[in-house]
Amino acid sequence: MTAEKANEAPKDQRSFMETLQRSGDLAVVDREVHWDMELGAISRRMTEMDGPAIWFRKITDYPGQSLFVNPISTWRRAAVTLGLPAHARIPEIYEEYIRRESHLIPPVEVKDSACREVVIRGKDVDVCNLATPMIHDGDGGRYIGTWCIVVCKDPDTGWVNWGTYRFMIHNTQYLAGWPFPPSHAGKILQEKYVPRNKPMPIAIVMGADPSSHLAATSSTRIGRDEASLAGGLAGRPIEIIRCLDSDLTFPANAECVLEGEILPDRIAHEGPYAEYPGYRSGEMGAGILMKVNTITHRKNPVLSMDCTGFKDCSSIVTALGGGVAVRRTLERAGVPVTGVYIPSEGAVHLCIVGVSRGGREVTEQVLNALTGRRTYFTKILVVDDDVDIFNLGEVIHAWATRCHSERGTIIKHVEGSAQALTPCYDMEERSRRAGAAAAFDVTWPPSWDRTEIPVKARFDATFPAEVKKKVLDNWKSYGF
Ligand SMILES: Cc1cc2nc3c(=O)[nH]c(=O)nc-3n(C[C@H](O)[C@H](O)[C@H](O)COP(=O)(O)O)c2cc1C
Repeated sequence: MTAEKANEAPKDQRSFMETLQRSGDLAVVDREVHWDMELGAISRRMTEMDGPAIWFRKITDYPGQSLFVNPISTWRRAAVTLGLPAHARIPEIYEEYIRRESHLIPPVEVKDSACREVVIRGKDVDVCNLATPMIHDGDGGRYIGTWCIVVCKDPDTGWVNWGTYRFMIHNTQYLAGWPFPPSHAGKILQEKYVPRNKPMPIAIVMGADPSSHLAATSSTRIGRDEASLAGGLAGRPIEIIRCLDSDLTFPANAECVLEGEILPDRIAHEGPYAEYPGYRSGEMGAGILMKVNTITHRKNPVLSMDCTGFKDCSSIVTALGGGVAVRRTLERAGVPVTGVYIPSEGAVHLCIVGVSRGGREVTEQVLNALTGRRTYFTKILVVDDDVDIFNLGEVIHAWATRCHSERGTIIKHVEGSAQALTPCYDMEERSRRAGAAAAFDVTWPPSWDRTEIPVKARFDATFPAEVKKKVLDNWKSYGF
């Protein structure tokens, strides 16, 4: 493995792991662990402890393969992904993301890569030969696609989409997947391939550089090139390579790639699965069916996995890429937004929006802007910009005290765009993708004049400057 220079985003998964190891954010497990839930249980517990990522080097039944687990499930690892020191503060990580994502860098195509060291095709394909854990008790099967980049292409425009969607082993050559219908892969499949009864070429990529994974999980608009976004985030062009069986392109630094096609006239049983809201998703349902035609990987591949559930990778990467996308959406809608935070404790159901001017009208504007193509957030807090949105204690204090329970709560029902994984929705709502989002106006009414706004009972607000100075100057002498 090669070390990265300071401020340089890791160029592949192995250098990412090395940087994490140096900052104390990677634990290496040399003891043999079993793929049947032992590995999942260790990974889940570590996530809940806000612990390091884990590299499992010895997996029962899979000599020569290892697994890198929970790559970006903490802000520290998000910082390292962007070339920052692991201790960078959350607002600094957002700033760095915004700086990098606004300079797209197109990829360069290469002809060969280490991810082709081993090539398995046709009847020799057996996905069960890849170290794929049964992650949680109650999962519908072994999930091979968790921390993965799923590549597909719009056949009319040529736009290549990178997304992250779960895929479960169905049998030796088939996988069942679950891209949410409004996701880009879901839309391309349903609008461009199913009506023409044509198989959709697809590739599932594991163990790429963290910038490419981050780009794949970001909610970009249709037509925006995620390989160029990955380049922007990395600060250098990503080398991409074409699939052996199709013209789909993916990061050449990947550890392992499954190439195949989604069959347009089939469905496959998929799920349940312990998901990012922190609960097991309902029952086994109808997923999409992928036939795997080719597997390529490095010798001794380091496969990648997210142990989904409370505080998993999606709660951090969505907080980052999704938070920036939300900010842009609000800016376009004319909201005077000063910051957006999607805390991992809220499992992508809670969004905190800072504004320079609040009130019910602005809160309603925010609610409408965030309930479009996909309604992920069921609770939205719109707060004044004197509140530190990254400090949950301050946010809860403001919410409890400034939000009028009646006038300050706005509820909107959504039909067809709700996230079916939202735990509080009943089965009927889930099947219709119906639901509701509530926005809370946590701002002082703009119509109030200064005398009406209560003065904060806090050290920085309720004492004269000379008293504060005296106290601060003498702080140590009080014996504290
Ligand atoms: C580990 C992980 C697993 C995910 N699994 C799914 C999934 O199974 N289905 C889905 O629709 N979105 C899933 N997502 C969220 C999507 O990756 C995210 O919405 C992304 O923006 C999708 O790309 P798209 O906007 O191009 O559709 C997952 C995200 C992460 C980080």
